[in-house]
Formats: sequence, C-alpha cells, structure tokens
Amino acid sequence: MKTVQTNVNVDLNVDTAAELYQALNKQVANFSVLYTKLHNFHWYVKGSNFFTLHAKFEEFYNAATERMDEVAERLLAIGGSPVATIREQLELSSVSEATGTETAEEMVEALVHDFRAQASELQEVIELAGSLEDKATEDMLIGMQAAIQKDAWMLEAYLGR
Ligand SMILES: [Fe+2]
Repeated sequence: MKTVQTNVNVDLNVDTAAELYQALNKQVANFSVLYTKLHNFHWYVKGSNFFTLHAKFEEFYNAATERMDEVAERLLAIGGSPVATIREQLELSSVSEATGTETAEEMVEALVHDFRAQASELQEVIELAGSLEDKATEDMLIGMQAAIQKDAWMLEAYLGR
C-alpha cells in the first residue's frame, strides 16, 4: 500500500489522503468565500441594527480567516496543498457569494444557512478524518464545528427563533 509520509503521526493511503485533502480544501474555500461575504455584509448592512450587526460580522470574518488558516496549515502538515487563489476557492466553495441586495435580516438568514450547511459538511470531513485515524484533524474540525453551530444558534436567536 502506497502511503503519504506526513510530519505527524499519521500515514495516509494516497487515495484516501487525496479524498481528505479535497474535503479540507473545500473548507478552506468555504472560509475564504465567507470571509469576503462577511466583509460585504459588514460594509453594506443598513438599518436600526447597524451597530450590532456591523460589529458581529467583523467578529465572524475574523473567525473565518483564522479557521481558514488553521485548516490550510493542517493540510500542509499532512502533505496536502491548500487552494490559495480566489479563482480556485470560488470554484471549490459550496458557499455562494453575497448578492449585494440583502436586507439586514436577509444577511443574517444567509449566514444561518451557510453556517448550518458548513457544520453538516464538517460532519462528513470529521468522519472521514476519523476513519483514517487522523485524530488531530478530527479534533480540530470537531472544535470548529461546535463554534460554527454556536454562531448559527446565536443568529437564530437574533431572528427570534
Ligand atoms: Fe470595519
């Protein structure tokens, strides 16, 4: 069996490693698109909740870029190559960009949708990493998933749900 020697205590089979790299790269891409989308919302949000949402979207884009960096560097540590151009990230991402016409409430709705979708995608990657005995990746993603689920819950509470 051909394996990929990594810097960590995990030898990945080349085929399954490719699958894990692709799944992690999709999350790098998602965080990148979210980072820009959150800036869009931060800049263009209007209305009586401006101050609350403007500040909250900033917190979220800072979290998105930190998470992107963490996943990208984990990829490097296990022998992968993170997508590092906007073009590739847009192609790979399952998050759609802002339309530029969202109301404040629609911005929050869009983020609830994106965060929930990302949390469920992460579940698949967590299971994949687990099946490959890559505990460190699994652990990193579990923490990230919990944080994203918390963000989604807070936004739903904001919407009165
Ligand atoms: Fe700002």
